[in-house]
Order: sequence, then C-alpha cells, then structure tokens
Amino acid sequence: MTRPIILDCDPGHDDAIAIILALSSNAFSPLAVTTSAGNQTPDKTLNNALRILTLLGRSDIPVAGGAVKPLARELIIADNVHGETGLDGPVLPDPSFAPQAMTAVELMALKIKESPAPVTLVPTGPLTNIALLLATHPELHSNIEQIVLMGGAAGVGNWTPAAEFNIFVDPEAADMVFKAGIPITMCGLDVTHQAQVMDEDIARIRAIENPIAQCVADLLDFFILYHRDPKWGFTGAPLHDPCTIAWLLQPELFTAQQAWVGIETKGEHTQGMTVVDRYGLTGNQPNTNVLFDIDRAGFIDLLAQSLETYSH
Ligand code: BDR
Ligand code: CA
Repeated sequence: MTRPIILDCDPGHDDAIAIILALSSNAFSPLAVTTSAGNQTPDKTLNNALRILTLLGRSDIPVAGGAVKPLARELIIADNVHGETGLDGPVLPDPSFAPQAMTAVELMALKIKESPAPVTLVPTGPLTNIALLLATHPELHSNIEQIVLMGGAAGVGNWTPAAEFNIFVDPEAADMVFKAGIPITMCGLDVTHQAQVMDEDIARIRAIENPIAQCVADLLDFFILYHRDPKWGFTGAPLHDPCTIAWLLQPELFTAQQAWVGIETKGEHTQGMTVVDRYGLTGNQPNTNVLFDIDRAGFIDLLAQSLETYSH
C-alpha cells in the first residue's frame, strides 16, 4: 500500500530536492504540498513549491500557503543560503497552476480527514503550520501516523551555537509539535551533516540526462557555495531535507535512538535548542526517534537512482 504523505516545506534548495525525491517514488501518495515561511518569505516559498511541481508536471497535487510568520516572533529568512528567490541557481518554469483558495492548515486538515489511512506529515521548514494544525484540529491526531521532520540537533546548531535554523525560527511551534504525543522522527544536524553531496556526486547527477536531474545539479551547484566556507568542515553540502524522505524509503540507511526531546523557548543563548536526553537523565518518556548516522553512499545512490526514474 502506498503511504499517504503531506509535505510542508519552505523551498529552499534541499526542500525542492526532498519534493523531487518523494515524487519519484511510487511508495507514496502525495496528498498535498503546503508551504511555510522560513528560507525565504512566504510568497516566495509558495511560488517555489508551485514552480517545482510545475517542472515535475505535478499540477494535480494541491498546494496551499501557510502562516506568514512564526507564532510569536518575527520571521528570519535564510537568503544567505538560498539566495534572493529562495531557489537561486536553476532556471525554473513559472507556475502553471494556482494554489488552493485555502490555508495550509485548512488543506492539511481536509486531506487528513478524507484519508482512509493515517497520514505521514513531512515538515522540512519551521513548524508553524504543523503546530497550528495540531492545535486547531485535535480530532485529527488519530489519523496522523507520524511526523518525520528535518530540524534540530543533539549536538551543535547551524544558526546559533545551540540551534538549528528550522527550530530557531519558530521554537514555540516546535515546542507544541514535540509535546503533541504524535510519533516523531527527527532528522537533525547530527545526521544531515553526514548526508553530504560532494562535487563528484553532483557530476554523477549532472550526467543523468533528464531535466529534473539537470535542475537538481543546478540547485546543488548553488547550494554548495554557502557550505564551502572552511569553518563548517564540510567536503560537500549537507542535504538536510531529503533525509526525511530517504528515511521513509530506506530506514536501514540510518541509525536511530528513541529519546525525549524538549525545545528551549526561553534560553538566553539557547533559544530554539532541541534538548535530546540520550541518557534518560530527565526521566521523561522518549517522544522522538532521533536519527544519528547515515550510510552516505547508500543515500547518494538512492538520490541518483530516483533521479534516473525521471528519464522513463
Ligand atoms: C534547514 O534550514 C533550511 O535552510 C534548510 O532548508 C533545512 O530545512 C537546515 O538547517
Ligand atoms: Ca527547509
């Protein structure tokens, strides 16, 4: 049976690649793509989702825009990583279709309500929309199978020393989501910083002769620039968001640990930190399946093989 999923994202180079990876597979029934404000302003992330789906010829997937700012804070964007458009690099088509005349929360709620099987939510941006959905539709929790998210870190952050970008942007939303009692798998920086795409992988993708693979290679050529700064210690660029889809498709590529995760909303230096209780020190029940390691070569093979399917 195919797994019903909803992608809630802020494209964003790695969000776009996560969408492309997800839609290459017949393991999923994509019910909707909704957009969050994060990597760029909400108008741009919505437009980018429409442009990627247009490129993929998937105007059949309903799209809706979400909250225009975090729950309790002003929006911070990552244009230093993703550029002026949020998807700088490739030439993308203009959208061939319009978003739904409803909000992201309304569209998610409708699709979850209609779904005969419990739905997997895959947020790869700030958790604003997911928090609002869970808060306003408690009756739908039982039809949500799990939340597989990119965000957080057990170790160091990438936006502050303590916090990863998606959680830092809207910690109040993340706090609500991690407390909701729905099974969570967290693809944090511990694992995504290992999921690096190297120059030779981009060349491998570039050699796949279809427009989708060419777009991914163009996205990566831009995305890798920010990550070339030696301070990060990277060889390539960390493909954060596609780890969510890779875990759903091939969990055997990853190692994981069940742990309690709390969100720091008040810390002077630690706002947006995901506090991961690896040793059970708090006595709190584990609420999250935290991913730690990835078979990088297997991950790149999955990505390349998925891009090859667009040639057929
Ligand atoms: C996360 O932040 C964004 O820039 C990426 O799209 C990813 O979701 C990594 O911290
Ligand atoms: Ca993202």
